[in-house]
Amino acid sequence: MKKILIIGSTGQIGSELSIRLRSIYGVDNVICGYFAPPFPEGFFEAGPTVEIDALNINQIADTVKKYNIDTIYNLAAILSATAEKNPKLGWDVGVGSLMNCLDVAKEYKCALFTPSSIGAFGPSTPKDNTPQDTVQRPTTIYGITKVTGEMLSDYYYTRFGVDTRSVRFPGIISNMTLPGGGTTDYAVEIFYKAVKGEDFECPVKAGTFMDMMYMPDALDAAIDLMEADPSRLIHRNSFNVTAMSFDPEMLYAAIKKHYPNFKMTYNVDPLKQAIADSWPNKLDDSAARSEWDWSPKYDLEKMTVDMINTLKTRLNK
Ligand code: SER
Repeated sequence: MKKILIIGSTGQIGSELSIRLRSIYGVDNVICGYFAPPFPEGFFEAGPTVEIDALNINQIADTVKKYNIDTIYNLAAILSATAEKNPKLGWDVGVGSLMNCLDVAKEYKCALFTPSSIGAFGPSTPKDNTPQDTVQRPTTIYGITKVTGEMLSDYYYTRFGVDTRSVRFPGIISNMTLPGGGTTDYAVEIFYKAVKGEDFECPVKAGTFMDMMYMPDALDAAIDLMEADPSRLIHRNSFNVTAMSFDPEMLYAAIKKHYPNFKMTYNVDPLKQAIADSWPNKLDDSAARSEWDWSPKYDLEKMTVDMINTLKTRLNK
């Protein structure tokens, strides 16, 4: 049985990954590392928790020793738009936490999962069917931390044999914990507005295509990759994964089928637009499909129905 430590377990991905991992591996085998509020409802009652500053290597090492951890999910990150406003913080959190995890994983022989992102690509990357192996010259500090992370993780694998694995997540759409400061956040916020009966101002232009994924598929991607037979893996850090690609108009139309009176207008945020314009339209994820059987379950329509139904319950609408 695995003994797992999640760093950043209160964030958008961590709050749901912890529930899923506990349902698979057992509540007491998943230790949830937290740093700062807000905490998900019932967080401290749901299972073992530990305060961890990802920039403090001793705190990570002590926890790994204390609980006999063999697998670390490192989810500490500052998302793209926020990182542009404080590049030093973006670098320190993105790369500092990873270096600490890599060194602890090396010392205590842990497997390590770290998310990369569509942000690891830049304007000189082919935009459509972006290949698994291609140009990676991002123009955001977030992307620079992600490319650095991919390379460091591959380095620790080839040089020290650390079992590092990673996926390049697209925008993740979810309904439990809000993302914060990401360029793809609009695709989450729009649902909250629609379900609450409010209008939505979209920060990126019509025609801006980005890869997206519904949270249940994102959780599958992380867990299935960590469970994958290592002898099949040609790549490690990091795999392209995607479930859908849409622009704001397509998402608006999908939501309007359920809320015909819902109104979306545009109020373009130049920072988010520039970031989105530098990222791919649609990734080619065939390497993930062939090396560890990646296969997402939710397309735009199916995700929209589930998001709306779940949010109606959560928001009492
Ligand atoms: N969702 C992230 C962001 O927009 C991309 O990985 O920053």
